[in-house]
Amino acid sequence: MASAATVPSPAPQKLHPSDISSIKDFAESIAGSAIPSTYHSITEGRDDVADELAASLPVIDLSLLTSTDPVIHAGAVRELGRACQDWGFFLLINHGISESLIEDVVKKSLEFHNLPFEEKNEFNDEGMFAPIRYGTSALPHGIGETVHYWRDYLKITTFPEFNFPNKPPGFKEVGYDYSRKIRAAARTLLQGISESLGLEPNTIVESTNFDSGFQKFQVNLYPPCPQPDLTLGLPAHTDNGFLTLLIQNGIGGLQLKHEGKWVNVTPLPNCIIVNTGDQLEVVSNGRYKSIWHRVVVNERVTRVSLALGNGPPYDQEIGPLPQLLEKEKPVFRSITYREFLKLQQKVRCDNKPRGLEELRIKPQD
Ligand code: OGA
Ligand code: NI
Repeated sequence: MASAATVPSPAPQKLHPSDISSIKDFAESIAGSAIPSTYHSITEGRDDVADELAASLPVIDLSLLTSTDPVIHAGAVRELGRACQDWGFFLLINHGISESLIEDVVKKSLEFHNLPFEEKNEFNDEGMFAPIRYGTSALPHGIGETVHYWRDYLKITTFPEFNFPNKPPGFKEVGYDYSRKIRAAARTLLQGISESLGLEPNTIVESTNFDSGFQKFQVNLYPPCPQPDLTLGLPAHTDNGFLTLLIQNGIGGLQLKHEGKWVNVTPLPNCIIVNTGDQLEVVSNGRYKSIWHRVVVNERVTRVSLALGNGPPYDQEIGPLPQLLEKEKPVFRSITYREFLKLQQKVRCDNKPRGLEELRIKPQD
């Protein structure tokens, strides 16, 4: 038998992304070694992070927004409007969702990703509008994608109809409870946002048919990465709905772009991170911008995040609110949410910045 020293070492295997079933399994299999070049996705420096700004991220107290005292309520509406205008991101506290529910839904989400690959892969679906989709950015999901990201995901439509994987045991039950509570919090925020625009509390909710609207329950898994400086968990993007509400397992990684700089979003215990999305930018006629954000990964620990996007119904036409157009010209043209999502996909394949720019009315139009 030849000794180990005389056995020629195998040629480094060329890792084609489609050979990789999940980043979780892949990360475990290559622990400590170099990542394939297809994952070299970072395009802007990781060092360009404005940590001094992290502490300025607005904090919104939901219990003040729902206060029956008109002075307290009005103050909270003002703060909310300022947070949307200046940052488009804020930390939501006193939201009324119990710590134990948050802990349970995070725990079950991790358990889902810890299922054997074959069991998760039952939910693999290429369709953009599929009610449940498990996947990894290493599989050719993003048509036209040439770089890949260090993330596995589970995307579920939880509104208007509730879909959910039936495993692991108990996940569906906490998922139901959590998705309903998040939807209610998003609705309350939209009422406050409507008031902050000088409108009636229900103007946004009613004119966009929000109560029949769409909710995407997204569970992101970011395993440890041996070369975190070369890749991203998620590239810079804006979210497509009105509001995204996010929780995580206490591990940072989310960064938002503020005044040209990346800012780490460091969560307070038991708070929910909220950001404004493209549909809010449209209805507010450009007043409340949807904010660019991305996810960086780390070498040591697995991060899980639950990002719940809250939007209008797929077939609802969305444009700047008519009440705002009494005093100003429209900045965006109207389009159904479904058409917007398709446009977004197309724009991504064409390597253009984002769908929203295609809706912008140019001065000569
Ligand atoms: C998203 C997102 C951020 C995170 O899912 O759209 O931006 O921290 N997630 O996982
Ligand atoms: Ni996002």
